[in-house]
Amino acid sequence: MTKNLVLIAHPNMKESRVNKIWLEELKKYPESIAIQDLYANYPHWQINVTKEQQLVEQHNRIIFQFPFYWYSSPPLLKKWQDDVLTYGWAFTSKGSKLRGKELGLAISIGGAESDYSKEGGDLYTIDDLISPFHATSNLIETDFLKPFTLYKTDDKSDDELEQSAKKYVEYLLSNKIEKFRV
Ligand SMILES: Cc1cc2nc3c(=O)[nH]c(=O)nc-3n(C[C@H](O)[C@H](O)[C@H](O)COP(=O)(O)O)c2cc1C
Repeated sequence: MTKNLVLIAHPNMKESRVNKIWLEELKKYPESIAIQDLYANYPHWQINVTKEQQLVEQHNRIIFQFPFYWYSSPPLLKKWQDDVLTYGWAFTSKGSKLRGKELGLAISIGGAESDYSKEGGDLYTIDDLISPFHATSNLIETDFLKPFTLYKTDDKSDDELEQSAKKYVEYLLSNKIEKFRV
């Protein structure tokens, strides 16, 4: 069975609606989904690199879960990448310890899907905006997955959020998630 590691980066989980419901749903599947809540576990941003690298090595699918902030992820996830994806581990002349694993994203997005287009207010698509993650995946030799997304988060009822949490877990428990296509 695919062993998922979900790294969650939400700076204000107390006020969250989407990521909080997603997190509560993930907790119901401890055998197939491991959770690392970065802001909860690293309040001072001192990331334990050895522990994080061990966690990654123990799982074959890594998911970055976060609310879309300023067209990107909240900053602790970027710091996680800066600290954990070291030369000699994530990439070397001889290859990567992550080679063959899968890397995916689960993103809650305030804007509407139609905003994220050439014609829409945001100009770029989400697929365009996540290209740094795709490029990273390429460098560390993971298979990049089609992201799990929820748009227009403010308009969603509690019921709709519960449904999206169930769909998210279905996505994670699937042994074959569609690969990202450019
Ligand atoms: C600091 C900040 C920046 C944000 N930037 C964006 C953005 O660039 N694009 C967008 O569609 N929504 C943006 N939003 C809206 C969030 O994506 C949305 O509120 C969040 O995904 C909802 O998830 P939550 O209930 O777990 O917090 C932003 C919100 C905050 C607080």
